[in-house]
Amino acid sequence: MADTANIRANIRPLVAGNWKMNGLRASLGEADSLLAFLAGGRDPGCDVMLCPPATLLSMFADRLGDGPLLLGGQDCHTDEKGARTGDISARMLADIGCRAVIVGHSERRSDHGESDALVHRKAQAVHDAGLIAIICIGETEAERDRGETLDVLGRQLDGSVPADAGAGNSVVAYEPVWAIGSGRTPSLGEVAEAHGFIRDRLAARLGAEGARMRLLYGGSVKASNADELMAIENVDGALVGGASLKAADFWGIIETYRGDR
Ligand code: PGA
Repeated sequence: MADTANIRANIRPLVAGNWKMNGLRASLGEADSLLAFLAGGRDPGCDVMLCPPATLLSMFADRLGDGPLLLGGQDCHTDEKGARTGDISARMLADIGCRAVIVGHSERRSDHGESDALVHRKAQAVHDAGLIAIICIGETEAERDRGETLDVLGRQLDGSVPADAGAGNSVVAYEPVWAIGSGRTPSLGEVAEAHGFIRDRLAARLGAEGARMRLLYGGSVKASNADELMAIENVDGALVGGASLKAADFWGIIETYRGDR
């Protein structure tokens, strides 16, 4: 197995905000506020990304340009183009300036019946478009109660992460389903166990690429718990839902990496 500690020393964390089905044109001001925070002169110490709803993507893209605030999509189709009413391809997202696409979020898995096999194909489509796939995995509360968490994570990893995945084109987000939007988080030890397991599994399969891949924690991350969650070994950033909707709240999480508070 790869020497993960040394390989990981230079990983730049990622804090990504997933707006889900929230945000109207009036919300563009939040992007402006984030840009103002980022223009403050200091390196935030992490990559910062926003994934607004599809309706706002091109307006955000015009605002963000090539600046420090990165843009991502929340989902994509497996195909590049075609008769797919209502869908968006990874190539289209790349075309308007997205750098990444979230795939396999638990809300897509549960609301739209997305399987590991489908998530795998979507992640492949994201790679083929030259973008980063943010591949989400996580156990339900019932699965955790039955002691199946690591089995579920292993199955989702094996089934959802394509063979060409590496540190440059993939990020894995561990999001316990029961922690999303609930205000509840796993214990620090539970997060450490899950992330350690994910790291080992990826390193065993993908070698140094798996050892260097960024692993995000997601599920009720907020400014008040970000410090302790982001300090856990093998946690290389956060995927943030509710607390990313307001720039000031989101900045409070990003500041975890600035090392000046
Ligand atoms: P939350 O959502 O931060 O609102 O819990 C996280 C997510 O679903 O990515």
